[in-house]
Amino acid sequence: MRFHGTMTVNSRGHLEIGGCDAVELAANFGTPLYVLDEELFRQNCREYYQAFCQKYGAEVIYAAKTLLTTAICRLVEEEGLGMDVVSGGELYTALKAGFPMERVYFHGNNKSREELQLALEARVGRIVVDNLYELEMLERLAAAMGARARVILRLTPGIEAHTHEYIKTGQIDSKFGLVIENGQALEGVKRALELDHIELCGLHCHIGSQIFELESYAHAARVMMEFAALAARETGWVLEELDLGGGLGIYYAAGDQPPSVAEYADVVVGAVRESALALGLPVPRVIVEPGRSISGPAGTTLYTVGAVKNIPGVRKYVAVDGGMGDNPRPALYRARYEACLANKASAPPEEVVSIAGKCCESGDMLIWDIALPRVEPGDILAVSCTGAYNYSMSMNYNRLPRPAMVLVRKGRAELILKRETYEDIVRNDVMPERLCKKHPAEDPVCAVN
Ligand code: LLP
Repeated sequence: MRFHGTMTVNSRGHLEIGGCDAVELAANFGTPLYVLDEELFRQNCREYYQAFCQKYGAEVIYAAKTLLTTAICRLVEEEGLGMDVVSGGELYTALKAGFPMERVYFHGNNKSREELQLALEARVGRIVVDNLYELEMLERLAAAMGARARVILRLTPGIEAHTHEYIKTGQIDSKFGLVIENGQALEGVKRALELDHIELCGLHCHIGSQIFELESYAHAARVMMEFAALAARETGWVLEELDLGGGLGIYYAAGDQPPSVAEYADVVVGAVRESALALGLPVPRVIVEPGRSISGPAGTTLYTVGAVKNIPGVRKYVAVDGGMGDNPRPALYRARYEACLANKASAPPEEVVSIAGKCCESGDMLIWDIALPRVEPGDILAVSCTGAYNYSMSMNYNRLPRPAMVLVRKGRAELILKRETYEDIVRNDVMPERLCKKHPAEDPVCAVN
């Protein structure tokens, strides 16, 4: 397993993250456990801040969908980044954490009336409008409040990025955004300019996620700038803000070769500047929305090994106490991960095994064919790069409680997310009175008790 951030092996031969012994973390907080390396998370934020904000006066907004709790909001705020939220729940989390609302961009392809209302009341910085239905609804809501909504229009640039089918978003056949090619995008700009309670601040596109080819971004930037030139000719409106979404890929396993954030910034901003010059347009302020490349490498999940099942000549299955409930990515996207045994971190690999989760699904496999030291029940398995789209996509399938999360830094581990309990699992269950047992006193879940 490649080590990330503050990972190291300590004198006991244990994996250490943020100066904390991973085996002790497992003992103290239980498993499965999400461990977040605060220094690496902050360092990733800073890398973006330096490459985009300091160097180019661009803006970086952290994609909250990758990983969000109130403590994470605080880290992002302290590092000077903005935040991209995509739902009332994410917005509410940011509000609860007292995150500066002017730095919030509200996304989503089907925002409800209530969500838009909440965004207007909270006075978020920008609402990224996805379609004309939303634009009209926002106009009515803003009018009723006597407010003016600052809006960025999401467009579909018609670009096929090379990534998994389910995480591509820039192609014409997409549920997101107004299509440039068929005139919907121009119609959107015209309509936004007509509406009294809408202030059109800029344009947005997002071509996909886990992208390694920077040329895809340069291409998107050019297409967007050409559209801006068309919009300027047709309406006189001048583009001031160009939000090019997120998507920079990260290293998960052998073969992944992501470009650096600095290269990404140079290519993206360079392409915008060149296009502006060529088209005779002012250079817009660039905005990017990285998520995975900030939170992904900073997260590690610890599991306890349980049953080990050897099928001679076929495969050795090593089952852990989590799986697709806390990390659905391998099942959804065939995502690959690396891992090590935290309690045998300096031992050489001895056998090739496959890591199974504990859900009742054959597809609940975390890693196929990984070389590890001899694996025994009770070992602590550490899976790296689980910071993005793990906790945020976790679920209670099989009524498994979701793991806890600890923030580790300089030898201190602090809980930032409590482990769910069985009580949490039944918290929202309701027993209708007609199903109560005849003798209510015998019925622990009957409302009359
Ligand atoms: N901006 C927009 C509009 C997005 O839709 C996304 C991700 C991002 C920014 C952040 O992209 P990132 O920098 O994290 O790649 N669940 C999938 C990924 C879905 C991506 C959704 N949108 C996965 O686990 O790979």
